[in-house]
Amino acid sequence: MDARVRHGNDDIQRRKQTLRRRISALRSAMTDEEWQKKSGIIRNRLLSCERWQQSRHIALYYSKDKEVDTKELIQQGWQEGKSIYLPKSYPQKKTMTFYRLTSFDQLEVAYYGLHEPIPGKSAPLSVEDLELVIVPGLVFDRSGYRIGYGGGFYDRFLATLPHYVHKVSLAFQFQVLQNEAVPRDVFDVAMDRIFTEKEDIVIV
Ligand SMILES: Nc1ncnc2c1ncn2[C@@H]1O[C@H](COP(=O)(O)OP(=O)(O)O)[C@@H](O)[C@H]1O
Ligand SMILES: [Mg+2]
Repeated sequence: MDARVRHGNDDIQRRKQTLRRRISALRSAMTDEEWQKKSGIIRNRLLSCERWQQSRHIALYYSKDKEVDTKELIQQGWQEGKSIYLPKSYPQKKTMTFYRLTSFDQLEVAYYGLHEPIPGKSAPLSVEDLELVIVPGLVFDRSGYRIGYGGGFYDRFLATLPHYVHKVSLAFQFQVLQNEAVPRDVFDVAMDRIFTEKEDIVIV
């Protein structure tokens, strides 16, 4: 792998960092009421889409702070009889392994204060079962490109998935750039669809 892939292009990395700060500030400024209300709208959009309804094996994450809330989604998935998988991060290698979660008791607070599955308490995902992956992120553009938190964990994971696995992100409208593109590194993987409280963005 050449240096550009290993470290990313410096200028691109700087531009990503500027956007992370800009959008994080907007997210932190949201009131709890706004966060809750918009999260509910976004959740219902996902729950009523055909892709969710037809998927039996879904990768999700446990939302933190002012990320679009995913806890109720996880519970709704269980109620609908779906297999829900959450990631455990391995910071040294910047990889993730997903485990099937059947109860919040199987979580512990780990890396970065994230709620992650306790490996001994749950079964690992067989990647060939996966049909839908909900991908966290800070900034998006209308082509589905995404800026995460800077570790590249999801880019690495998404690169290992079969092409038919659908990649969906949940974001507040202000997280989606309207007239500019997210700076792209060669390893960045684009989403297929983004739900916001205002829009259902299908990437063609
Ligand atoms: N598929 C991959 N293989 C190896 N390294 C990768 C891969 N994807 C991303 N990375 C590494 O992860 C780092 C962070 O990626 P970046 O896209 O900037 O972060 P994020 O997607 O979290 O915003 C990159 O500098 C790159 O070195
Ligand atoms: Mg990336």
